[in-house]
Amino acid sequence: MTHDAASVRALLGEILAALSSAAESDDTRTLRERLERFVALSDDALTPAVLLEASAVPLGAMRIFPKEARGLVGSKANAIKQAAEAALAVEKEAALAKALEAQRSGAGFDATMPPPRQTCGSLHPITQVTRELEDLFTSMGWTILDGPEVETEHCNFDALNISPDHPARDTMDTFWVKTQPGAPRLVMRTHTSTVQVRAMRRLQPPFRAIVPGKVFRNEALDASHEHTFHQMEGLVVGKHVSVGHLIAAMKTLLRGIFGREIEIRLRPGYFPFVEPGFELDARCPFCTEGCSVCKRSTWIELLPCGMVHPNVLKAGGIDPEQWTGFAFGLGLSRLVMLRFGIDDVRHLLAGDVRFLEQF
Ligand code: PHE
Repeated sequence: MTHDAASVRALLGEILAALSSAAESDDTRTLRERLERFVALSDDALTPAVLLEASAVPLGAMRIFPKEARGLVGSKANAIKQAAEAALAVEKEAALAKALEAQRSGAGFDATMPPPRQTCGSLHPITQVTRELEDLFTSMGWTILDGPEVETEHCNFDALNISPDHPARDTMDTFWVKTQPGAPRLVMRTHTSTVQVRAMRRLQPPFRAIVPGKVFRNEALDASHEHTFHQMEGLVVGKHVSVGHLIAAMKTLLRGIFGREIEIRLRPGYFPFVEPGFELDARCPFCTEGCSVCKRSTWIELLPCGMVHPNVLKAGGIDPEQWTGFAFGLGLSRLVMLRFGIDDVRHLLAGDVRFLEQF
């Protein structure tokens, strides 16, 4: 017992005396009984927690006391509260000292227990695949480029030969950024192809570059559509660059991703900034007879690509009579999903640790 039980009882007694000057009612009777119960407790039963309660009872029933007694009741009740708090602090200190003592004595210490597990973060699956691809391409002498996510309308559309009436320019498909009236329009880039023109202006041909990054589209969201996702652009400009180079580069890319030779095929595809344009399919890496990933066709659509359109080279300040190039747009998010068997693209950026811990 760290506090003086007798003085606490005396304080309670003074509160009770103040109560007797109040008009008799059910409220006063109940309150008196509650307070008397505290007075009747043994010294040992007057623990700090009980004292806290004993101070809270009159403080919470102040309106029952006559006005002129309330100041006195408040000060007595607060004195009980302070006694309780002081006793609690002493108890806490004693418990701490005891625990320290136990630790120092070595009692209860088990040297054979494994150490507590260290929690350790891991790289996001998109980062993992991006780094692998960056390693692969830099090992072949390609440069890694970056570009702004908030892009000019020019780099996102005009310089890429995308006409002003193209549906991607619609506010339904694209997030436009509010700008001053008359200022150039800005857009959350809808693809990494924006960096094509930036790269041409910055680098002297011949050059080879990849551009991994985030892109944004105003999509109706579902398991395969997300407003924010990742792409990796590839761009090569040089003398006599041909579709043959494009095919060879794509085969190398697939070998790097899947660790073995994978058959590919090209189908015609339309993108205003390539001519000719292709859709590149790869033999399904997961089956030979058709499975759910390839929708029973044994081919998976991997990436759009093509030969850089002369107008795009011109927009980048490069003479299309002297130089040619190819470009591809790898859906990085989709590749990550294929690679790890993730069935919903929305998992990738949801930031849920339960998902992320699996990689
Ligand atoms: N930028 C195109 C898209 O996001 C993909 C693409 C890139 C197509 C390069 C051809 C060449 O849909």
